[in-house]
Amino acid sequence: MIEKTINRRKFLGIAASGAAWLACPPDRVLGANDRVRIGLIGAGGRGQELLKQALALANVECVAIADVYKRRHDEARQIVQGASAVDDHRRVLDRKDVDAVLVASPLHIHARHFLDTLAAGKDLYCEKTMTWSIAEAEQCLAAAKRSSRVVTVGLQHQSSGALADAKQWIKDGLVGKITQVEAWMSRNTPHGKGQWVRAVPPDCIAENVNWQLFLNGRAVQPFNPYKFINWRLFWEFSGGNVTENMVHQIAWIMRALDLTTPTTAYMSGGVFSEKDGREVPDTIAVTLDFPNDLVVTWRSTFSNNHYGLGEQLLGSDGTIERVMGTTDMVTGETGTAIRYYPERANRPDGVALRGESPDQNHMANFIDCVRTRKQPNAPVEIGYRSAIAAHMANMAYRQKQRVTLEMARSAAARG
Ligand SMILES: NC(=O)c1ccc[n+]([C@@H]2O[C@H](COP(=O)([O-])OP(=O)(O)OC[C@H]3O[C@@H](n4cnc5c(N)ncnc54)[C@H](O)[C@@H]3O)[C@@H](O)[C@H]2O)c1
Repeated sequence: MIEKTINRRKFLGIAASGAAWLACPPDRVLGANDRVRIGLIGAGGRGQELLKQALALANVECVAIADVYKRRHDEARQIVQGASAVDDHRRVLDRKDVDAVLVASPLHIHARHFLDTLAAGKDLYCEKTMTWSIAEAEQCLAAAKRSSRVVTVGLQHQSSGALADAKQWIKDGLVGKITQVEAWMSRNTPHGKGQWVRAVPPDCIAENVNWQLFLNGRAVQPFNPYKFINWRLFWEFSGGNVTENMVHQIAWIMRALDLTTPTTAYMSGGVFSEKDGREVPDTIAVTLDFPNDLVVTWRSTFSNNHYGLGEQLLGSDGTIERVMGTTDMVTGETGTAIRYYPERANRPDGVALRGESPDQNHMANFIDCVRTRKQPNAPVEIGYRSAIAAHMANMAYRQKQRVTLEMARSAAARG
């Protein structure tokens, strides 16, 4: 597949220099207690959260920030005084004093930032979804495999205690054969206010935004502040709720059950909750078929929050249920937990269990791996597999047909 990716550069908008393919050696080797110097690309909502998480750890310093919007430079400087702030991410990557880079840019630019970061010889924390397309996911996976750099994806549920509990129960044979997984994610907003819609700040004007860098090779178009701030709502820049949220849950399910990529995807839904001009659906039902007799469903709504989010792993010998913010139908209580329930038919003496494993700090895990060169909790492979599942689902929705892995890959190869 990778050999066929020559034409895919147009997906990425990668500079013709080919810099992404000639990875530089790292500038220095860190010891266990050395200071880790980070750069941040994309200092919006998530980028600022990641920055705070990193700076809360011992011996971490932020030396440079790249964002195409001047307002974000000022906001980031409130968090970290003294860091340089620039428009162009390459100026951060040029610096010899940056060991590791956090990428929290909009989805359509992840692949470019991913590849350029590895090419510059820096370790990488890339927000989910790893890429905007299947072709990009393949390029990023290949680049990460060729590189000696530490790569992690912002799939923080990979660091959850619940994942450790689920894996242990499955390994212990408590669940039997799992043929079906049901997952859901729900949110609600006041009438007339669509989920994700952000107000455009008064200073979001052409003079304060490097719109060309934001577009990253997308069709030339006049500056559009609404799209710039609300990129999540538009296919050109986003994959909608499948890449915003399903990806976390599908990655969690994939790791718990040790799944490869799906063989087939189906997706229905539409813009039903608030018809506010968005392109990406707010009401979604995804079905993913996996090898070895497994169907995974994921549904999502933006106009009812009663059941929060969760996953049910349905096995012949037991059920694993992870819920977050779910309201119990009978008691009305809201809870967050992972539990195991035996199936009486096959484990008549089995007892119900509640997971107790603590969560790990996902950012601390990355910084630790920068020092130790160990594999992080969310390595590139899970970023890749979850991205493929998400993009197959979106392809099925947009093409209104069942999409196989082969169809998805050959469409990606055609560019
Ligand atoms: N892991 C999680 O739980 C989680 C939570 C929220 C968001 N995210 C992810 O984080 C990413 C960012 O989301 P957000 O809500 O912070 O979006 P945002 O719009 O608030 O921030 C994106 C920032 O990137 C900047 N930007 C745009 N183009 C750029 C470029 N070419 N170079 C540098 N900066 C550029 C924008 O100016 C903006 O400040 C998304 O991929 C999103 O899915 C992850």
